[in-house]
Amino acid sequence: MARTVTDIILLGPPGAGKGTQAHRLVEERGMVQLSTGDMLRAARSSGTEMGRRVAEVMDKGHLVTDDIVIGLIAEKLADPDAAGHAGFIFDGFPRTLAQADALGDLLERMGRPLAAAIELAVEDEVLVDRVSGRFTCGNCGEVYHDVTRPTRKPGVCDACGSTDLRRRADDNADSLRQRLMEYYKKTSPLTGYYHAKGLLVRLDGLAPIDRVAAAIAAALPAPVGA
Ligand code: AP5
Repeated sequence: MARTVTDIILLGPPGAGKGTQAHRLVEERGMVQLSTGDMLRAARSSGTEMGRRVAEVMDKGHLVTDDIVIGLIAEKLADPDAAGHAGFIFDGFPRTLAQADALGDLLERMGRPLAAAIELAVEDEVLVDRVSGRFTCGNCGEVYHDVTRPTRKPGVCDACGSTDLRRRADDNADSLRQRLMEYYKKTSPLTGYYHAKGLLVRLDGLAPIDRVAAAIAAALPAPVGA
């Protein structure tokens, strides 16, 4: 019997909870997270000239150019290892109308229709607290928060036991202000774009993490093998 794949987009401002929910979907449904933010952070730590230019743009809170991020996603989608899983979670991509059109073309060529574009709606005031308290595991990518989601043992990742817990260079008030500006100017129009395609699902991103996860699960088809 053919396996059902569910490809989804997680949309929302910086700190809305996209990465947190993507991790849950990877663990609970066996989906594959494609985070352009993570890919760009890997590029910046590569020490190349391209990585240095990407770091400058990210630290100021601007968007990296469409051709770079579309290239990164196209490369991941072409990877044969990515086949045979329960679906892709596009986390932080697309962020512009050009990226959305490019993703539509790539998926159409692969015969993979998008199941949903899930918007996590969160007010700006909450985002400052979320982003300033965030830290992540450098080994497995698990996302934590000083107040709302601390590790059980201080300094040790609950998920993998690593002590490599990191804070992001762009998680400061100035950069967040610019990231929000970029979001409202360039990314928020995508909610209308996906609404027009009948794919937009708007969820309350202010709810506790488990409740947001349950709302996402309810919006998706039953997982493969369920
Ligand atoms: P990226 O890494 O994608 O960052 P972002 O979109 O700004 O989103 P964040 O990772 O900040 O937040 P999130 O929504 O994942 O929230 P999280 O789950 O961590 O991009 C970084 C930069 O890369 C961009 O600024 C740009 O320069 C560049 N870039 C990336 N993609 C690009 C693209 N496509 N085009 C061009 N440039 C691109 O949660 C945040 C915190 O809140 C955590 O501490 C978490 O524990 C907590 N939390 C989460 N959910 C809840 C909840 N429900 N209740 C309470 N706390 C919660």
